[in-house]
Amino acid sequence: MTATPDLFGPVQLGDIALANRIVMAPMTRSRAPGNLPNALMAEYYAQRASAGLIITEGTAPAANGRGYIDIPGIYSEAQVAGWRAVADAVHAKGGRIFAQVMHVGRISLPEFQDGAEPVAPSAVTPPGQMYTPSGMKPLGQPRALEEAEIEALVEAYGQAARNAIAAGLDGVEIHAANGYLPGQFLAPNSNQRIDRWGGSAENRARFLLAITDAAAKAIGPARVGVRLSPGNPFNDIADPDVEGTYTPVIHGLSGKGLAYLHFLDAKPAFDVIGLARQHFDGKIILNAGYDRARAQADLASGRGDLVAFGSKYISNPDLVERLRRDAPLAAPDQATFYGGDARGYTDYPALAA
Ligand SMILES: Cc1cc2nc3c(=O)[nH]c(=O)nc-3n(C[C@H](O)[C@H](O)[C@H](O)COP(=O)(O)O)c2cc1C
Repeated sequence: MTATPDLFGPVQLGDIALANRIVMAPMTRSRAPGNLPNALMAEYYAQRASAGLIITEGTAPAANGRGYIDIPGIYSEAQVAGWRAVADAVHAKGGRIFAQVMHVGRISLPEFQDGAEPVAPSAVTPPGQMYTPSGMKPLGQPRALEEAEIEALVEAYGQAARNAIAAGLDGVEIHAANGYLPGQFLAPNSNQRIDRWGGSAENRARFLLAITDAAAKAIGPARVGVRLSPGNPFNDIADPDVEGTYTPVIHGLSGKGLAYLHFLDAKPAFDVIGLARQHFDGKIILNAGYDRARAQADLASGRGDLVAFGSKYISNPDLVERLRRDAPLAAPDQATFYGGDARGYTDYPALAA
């Protein structure tokens, strides 16, 4: 019998040793004007460094991967310098931090991309609106990527991974959840291509597997994780056969020595985590709606190896200590989730010692 994994005990994740199994989930906070990570962000992440692992907010691997107000990027020298300050601040507090690499694809507007049309696998307009400095605006029709552009994007993910390591970050998480570019390739309603990047489930998985391989080749697979949300319709994803789509994804991501798969398990259409447990050779991070008791139960049953907390981390910088003591948690203020300044960002206090 192996001992029950302890939420508060150490764990090895790929190449890195973590102090505990509590992960800060990636959260866009829209406080990076000019797409540059800054000192306020360094302070925010450093406050949360007692997490076993911090996964940063989504950060764009290319200029055409930007969407939403003031999200950071990881494709320019200035951005790498900004991330270096974040990495240093977190490491100084003994924490570990991966960058979440997020290309939003069609979930964007030209005004976030210097006037250029957002790109996607196919020219399928998503319903919905996006908040902009001049109010809510409807999302438009994206431009379908040329094959050469897809190949350039694959390389951009590799370069983003190299940039993350150059900045001193511990690794990268490929954001393939929530209907952003990799998710747009996976789903048949947003991917209507008839070349090798669309059609069969294997073809729709090709982009995700290619960008993961590019990152793994750039920095070593043990510093790369992948986030998935099978069956989640967010951002107008519709897939009549989630199992058919995700079976080749799980098989394709297995056996490569990747650090982890991170499941945003909102609406599991089949037991995808069970499938990953059978085949995947790295750790499994569970997320969405967790509290202390459910986290401990899912570690004890072997469903996952680590648990990510999102909104609780916004308002509880010392979440690890609060969970350890089973202390009350502060509630987050939704009005300050996106954009603004230190208010609702770095001003949530830790418990008195
Ligand atoms: C303000 C906010 C921003 C988020 N931004 C991202 C993001 O950039 N990337 C991502 O993968 N998930 C993002 N999420 C989803 C969270 O990572 C997480 O999956 C979600 O909050 C559910 O976990 P929870 O129940 O512990 O809050 C965001 C969630 C919130 C509340």
